[in-house]
Amino acid sequence: MGMNNPEGSKLRPGKGHRMATKTVVKSGDVTQRVGVEVIRARGVDVDKLIKMLIANAGAEFASTYYYYTILRMNLAGHEDYKEICEDARLEDRAHWELIVPRIYELGGHLPNDLKEFHDQAGCKAAKLPDPPTAVNILTLLLESERCAIRSWSAVCDMTFGKDPRTYDLAARILNEEIEHEAWFIELLAFERDGKSIPSGHFRRGEPGEAPYSKNRGFYNP
Ligand SMILES: [Fe+2]
Ligand SMILES: [Fe+2]
Repeated sequence: MGMNNPEGSKLRPGKGHRMATKTVVKSGDVTQRVGVEVIRARGVDVDKLIKMLIANAGAEFASTYYYYTILRMNLAGHEDYKEICEDARLEDRAHWELIVPRIYELGGHLPNDLKEFHDQAGCKAAKLPDPPTAVNILTLLLESERCAIRSWSAVCDMTFGKDPRTYDLAARILNEEIEHEAWFIELLAFERDGKSIPSGHFRRGEPGEAPYSKNRGFYNP
């Protein structure tokens, strides 16, 4: 993906970007947003970006946070797994809260219907597996994190060098999703195969610390 803006220049042939962004939104006009015009002029398909952010927000809130709550409840007897699952669960809630304001800033909105929102989610619902063994639950958790990595990477690719605000938010979330994948690889490899594949995990200060998405300091006693 180039840093030039083929779409932006197609929209306004013959005009430089600086000219175009200066003249589009009139003084006092509250129906348009300079924050949207500048990224459109750089080639971001804003409608597509809003759709992706709604799908990702749906995955964070509905298919991850909600279902992870159920999955964690069923890890009885594995208190160590429950603790890691709690970090991933609460950090996904932080991701939801981090990204929702961006949808509105871009002129979008959440669906006014929870079922519709759930069904638009970009990742499959992480429902309790049958039987709800630790191996089955950890496999599901791992695959959910992998879906999140793919979805947030797509947002990073689409906004890199064009929409620094969305890119920054998506990159913060992606940082934590990559950690979550590593945590569940470690737990699943141990539980299923008796293998040690360290994740490099250091304990968060508090459950749900979310050092990247909440911009908190790392646990460092
Ligand atoms: Fe997440
Ligand atoms: Fe996650």
